[in-house]
Amino acid sequence: MTITYSFSQLVINWYHEHGRKNLPWKINTNPYKVWISEIMLQQTQVNTVIPYYNKFIKIFPNINILAQSSINTVLNAWSGLGYYTRAHNLYSTAKIIFKKYNGIFPNHFSNIIKLPGIGKTTAGAILSFGFNLYGCILDGNVKRTLLRHFNIRAQKKTIEKKLWTIIKFITPIHNTHKFNQAIIDIGSLICLKSKPKCKICPLKKTCLSLKSNDWSTYPIKNKIQKKIKKKIFFLIIQYKNFILLKKNQFNTIWKGLYCFPIFFNKLEVLEKIQKKNININKQEIFESFVHTLSHIKFLCFSIRIEIQEKFCIKKTVDTIWFNLYNPQSIGLPSPIKKIINEKLLPFLKN
Ligand code: ADE
Repeated sequence: MTITYSFSQLVINWYHEHGRKNLPWKINTNPYKVWISEIMLQQTQVNTVIPYYNKFIKIFPNINILAQSSINTVLNAWSGLGYYTRAHNLYSTAKIIFKKYNGIFPNHFSNIIKLPGIGKTTAGAILSFGFNLYGCILDGNVKRTLLRHFNIRAQKKTIEKKLWTIIKFITPIHNTHKFNQAIIDIGSLICLKSKPKCKICPLKKTCLSLKSNDWSTYPIKNKIQKKIKKKIFFLIIQYKNFILLKKNQFNTIWKGLYCFPIFFNKLEVLEKIQKKNININKQEIFESFVHTLSHIKFLCFSIRIEIQEKFCIKKTVDTIWFNLYNPQSIGLPSPIKKIINEKLLPFLKN
């Protein structure tokens, strides 16, 4: 007698032995914790997310606390994780749930999908992991696994639709959360882009691309986008233990975060310093460093001036004197944090 297991049975069986059950958002879980983790996991690896997640849940243990905090404290907790639109959307969603749903996360796909920053996959994760309901997940790793397993070749336009049809068909109604966690884990830990671990894959017996040995041709390669290179100049204006920071406008990178005044050529910075006609105690240039974002590579230069009088700098609603000894709770982009930690704090005079 031969017994054949369905795709979902194989995946769920594998989950019991190998699936990740101890990730922090799996322990004493609830829809709020699932939502926070899923937003952080968009475009970011598990290992990077874990410390940010733990810190975030400590500061904002539930949706009501998050909704009643300031955007600055949220951006402060998000600082360094990148893709800050996620933090703005998270905050907007918390406010909506607080007002419209009395702080209770909605459990219908049609309501969840309308919330800022939540797409089909995140909604599927919230439903299955948070509510133990039916919901499908189709992230990049799951897509690759399905493409290979079912040997799907199609135009880019139609692939997405096909994959959604397949995942809806194979996701079981019972134990959806186990299947979903396992298919995420198989996609990210076994069906790797290069050198997939087919020998230990629970789906190896029915995998068509393993059979035809053409797994390496999946996924259909996207053209690798070349990163734009750009020089960026930070003007660090320091008065004793205070530095001048400016809130970035909403349509720029690092939106809502506080930065040193930014320039895109050296002459502009020097002109600015001269124009200000201020008494400068000291001026120094720090060694440049590279900061890479998803689409851009910044070569960061920083010029520090130490001033004698704070009032010679005109303050606006968007600027603050940031206290290096007693920092305000605001969002700071990684390169700004780096400069503060490596170049400013070690040299502060008591
Ligand atoms: N990526 C997205 N959701 C995930 C989860 N629940 N566990 C691990 N990686 C993920």
